[in-house]
Amino acid sequence: MNYRHIYHAGNFADVFKHATLALIVRHLTLKDKSFCVLDTHAGVGAYDLGSEQALKTGEFRDGIGRVLASPECPPSLSPYLDVVRDLNPGTGGALRRYPGSPLLARALMRPCDRLVLAELHPEDAESLAALFRHDRRVSVQRMDGYAAVKAFLPPPERRGLILVDPPFEERDEAQRLADALKAVHRRFATGITMLWYPIKDRAPVAAFHDALEASGIRSLLIAELLIRADDDPGRLNGCGLALVNAPWTLPGALAGFLPFLCRTLGRDPGARWRVDRLVGE
Ligand SMILES: C[S@@+](CC[C@H](N)C(=O)[O-])C[C@H]1O[C@@H](n2cnc3c(N)ncnc32)[C@H](O)[C@@H]1O
Repeated sequence: MNYRHIYHAGNFADVFKHATLALIVRHLTLKDKSFCVLDTHAGVGAYDLGSEQALKTGEFRDGIGRVLASPECPPSLSPYLDVVRDLNPGTGGALRRYPGSPLLARALMRPCDRLVLAELHPEDAESLAALFRHDRRVSVQRMDGYAAVKAFLPPPERRGLILVDPPFEERDEAQRLADALKAVHRRFATGITMLWYPIKDRAPVAAFHDALEASGIRSLLIAELLIRADDDPGRLNGCGLALVNAPWTLPGALAGFLPFLCRTLGRDPGARWRVDRLVGE
């Protein structure tokens, strides 16, 4: 396990994933019934952007840094950006901390809702546990995220979101992701599921979409953001989210901010975005 998210915290991929996550959690709070979020690959929960590692790549500057510097952020980014701003009070707009998916979800949830976090890296799991040690609505598990799907689903609340956001260090990660979707669906068919995947060149993405289609699961939405043309297998040119049971308002909200992210974060004329149903209802 070599991957450490601190090098990438707040980059374009985090902005897209976290802005979408914020919309879904906000949607879940609209109903007067508690819910559970399971984050299977949680990371450390919050990131110090002044750390040596974050400054070494500086990826956040071309991600959340560019977004916050823009005078024209679309309203559908507000649930996400409000949390980022609240985490950086009194800095005059400078960024010191960045919320990972756990802190973002927690900030938007209500006292009656629950958050279950799985993280396998021993140091990261320890940092995550320390971050939430006083919060009884958050359970931190040092374990394999795919095993967490089997251990914690379905949640007693019977409402919720499962985020599966692996580091893609393993060659078979895309297949494991497609298998995880099936495992989630078998246990909790009504849950909202969000899978993150990288886009380098197109062939592996097409194979992943084929595997998702072959799962037989309905109501599958694909959202992608490319900051460059997807023709170089050696670098992260974009990323995608595969969503099952997404709120009906989500495609419109994504279409509200993706053109802005594409303009603001795009690096060459190959930058583009899409929101499409891979499989219908
Ligand atoms: C992309 S990062 C997660 C970022 C986080 N979801 C966020 O958005 O803030 C992936 C995380 O998965 C952890 N990890 C790697 N393999 C894992 C596994 N099999 N089960 C759980 N966590 C794992 C890594 O240590 C890393 O912290």
